[in-house]
Amino acid sequence: MLNRKILVTSALPYANGPIHLGHLVEYIQTDIWVRFQKQRGHQCYYVCADDTHGTPIMLRADSENISPETLIARVAQEHLADFTEFSVAFDNYHSTHSEENREFSSLIYKRLRDAGHINSRTITQAYDPIKLMFLPDRFIKGECPKCGAADQYGDSCEACGATYSPTDLKNPVSALSGEKPIAKDSVHYFFNLGNFADMLQAWTSAGHLQAEVCNKLSEWLENGLQEWDISRDAPYFGFEIPDAPGKYFYVWLDAPIGYMASFKNLCDKQGLDFDAFWTKESDTELYHFIGKDIIYFHALFWPAMLSGAQFRTPSAIFAHGFLTVNGEKMSKSRGTFIKARTYLEHLNPEYLRYYFAAKLNAGVDDIDLNFEDFTQRVNSDLVGKVVNIASRCSSFIHKRFEGELAATCSEPDLFAQFVDANSKIAEYYEAREFGKAMREIMALADQANQYIDEKKPWVIAKETDRDAELQQVCSMGINLFRLLVVYLQPVLPVLAEQAYQFLNIAPQAWPQATTPLLQHRINPFAPLMTRVEADKIQAILSASQSDLQAAASTPPPAVKHCEAIAPTIEFDDFAKIDLRVAKILKAEAVAGAEKLLQLTVDIGDETRNIFAGIKSAYAPEDLEGKFTVVVANLAPRKMRFGVSEGMVLAAGPGGKDIWIIAPELGATAGMRVK
Ligand code: 2FM
Ligand code: ZN
Repeated sequence: MLNRKILVTSALPYANGPIHLGHLVEYIQTDIWVRFQKQRGHQCYYVCADDTHGTPIMLRADSENISPETLIARVAQEHLADFTEFSVAFDNYHSTHSEENREFSSLIYKRLRDAGHINSRTITQAYDPIKLMFLPDRFIKGECPKCGAADQYGDSCEACGATYSPTDLKNPVSALSGEKPIAKDSVHYFFNLGNFADMLQAWTSAGHLQAEVCNKLSEWLENGLQEWDISRDAPYFGFEIPDAPGKYFYVWLDAPIGYMASFKNLCDKQGLDFDAFWTKESDTELYHFIGKDIIYFHALFWPAMLSGAQFRTPSAIFAHGFLTVNGEKMSKSRGTFIKARTYLEHLNPEYLRYYFAAKLNAGVDDIDLNFEDFTQRVNSDLVGKVVNIASRCSSFIHKRFEGELAATCSEPDLFAQFVDANSKIAEYYEAREFGKAMREIMALADQANQYIDEKKPWVIAKETDRDAELQQVCSMGINLFRLLVVYLQPVLPVLAEQAYQFLNIAPQAWPQATTPLLQHRINPFAPLMTRVEADKIQAILSASQSDLQAAASTPPPAVKHCEAIAPTIEFDDFAKIDLRVAKILKAEAVAGAEKLLQLTVDIGDETRNIFAGIKSAYAPEDLEGKFTVVVANLAPRKMRFGVSEGMVLAAGPGGKDIWIIAPELGATAGMRVK
């Protein structure tokens, strides 16, 4: 078999949120494909990274009172822990906020600029006069121009589905400050995609894309290619454009370049040849697994950028559909927006790997996670069919033959049939027809069980003169089990490892010419997989719903300079708030937190520890001895630096302009504020 050199990527997850089951469809799909290639003996590398730049990440860090660097470092750790537990085995996991990415982004930009593919001109955009920043469409809210629904985002209406531009919204306000945005001019940089119309026309019809993706692209190409705005104004978390101070690369410019950056980082660590994979002359293969929502970026912008900057283009883009749960879009309120971590707390990750494999094909249709079907498939296929073969046969081998398999193979034809199936299964894996591969493997498992049912080792075992036959039959069963595990290894790496330990064999290459294990000693059998329990699924759904409640009851940060105008509340709601005069006994900076001060306050009958985001406006020593007002009955909130037991009231837009509410002289600690 020709030894291929393959570089594979999955889309880079944003660094402002947790990995959820929707993400995992892609990472599991890619990981299975990569493990398969490696098992076949190819030189295959799987790289990924966190996608760290952009306005939402900057604002998220801001709301947590930490720097974006601190936020992305924390999230990277969380992401990697989730991936590792799901056995998603990247060869390298990097960050788009890395030196490699800065260098490649600059290099690609400069090459595109020097070749005449970058233009600049002044555009007018919505600007938040309080937050002093331009507002992305999602950060402008107002009334839908079509149906009048209130509180709609600047790009589309959730009530009537209309799409529009933010300038169409009636009574628009900034979602950050609640202020009416003003129109402001700024110079932007554009990538002239139109220069690549011929190149893209040829590339998109040259077999690099799935048929349904191809059709979508011809539509886009026919409609004409718009130039692409690749710059954003400060403040922005990203890379400054080399020849344009105060302008930053838009996150989607440097995100795919992150694939190169992660691979470069791997090359430097392992002494691999980066150029062999990325120059125009490269004879290696490059595949990007992505969701169908980001095809435009990967099948138009990315090949055009690569080609304009004299790099190779991808061998193929593999798009997949979205995940629905129990037939519906994942929903926080139904508890079906399930985080990877929540799943891991209750169920074996290999159940999900198998279930996704059984449902995946090479197309872009959505796949549904139906929990009844999930339970049934895992229990009947993996536990009932595959693992059961080993448990049925191994006990006799141990009890009667000291763990040793027979010296000859009693059914060479059956064994040969199992080995021969390897080419069809390999074709399915190669073509990402994992569902078909699983069906093929389960058909073999049925045959193995049928063989054991017919031979009835439990009957043979009762007859004293049929020992040799008993050993033959059980050894045959074990040898068939071994091949099933070898075929399932890309999907179930943990089960495979445990099974190889039981079989007393090394990890297995793809079985093109495998011979049976004869006169071979196996280890005692330990259960390889248990059945899915219904109460665990219920626990996941409930935990996902309580995640939602926790998110809803999480109080906003102490200084609410990032909030839209709050909705009206009833008097009863107001009366629930226990506002007290508090004396600040101690104030100190918090190591590692840029905006927080830790306050010890006296609220009359007790002292409390409160974290407040007011460091930009107050030196700790200025606060000690002062009176302020706190919400005393706020549920304690676990923060990264400790538990905050209340909230200090303050006002102002932020920065130096924050004022704690300080009662007039005469107030004493513990007084209720009415
Ligand atoms: O859609 C997303 O989640 C993006 N973070 C994917 C980026 S993929 C690549 F281009 F970096
Ligand atoms: Zn509407």
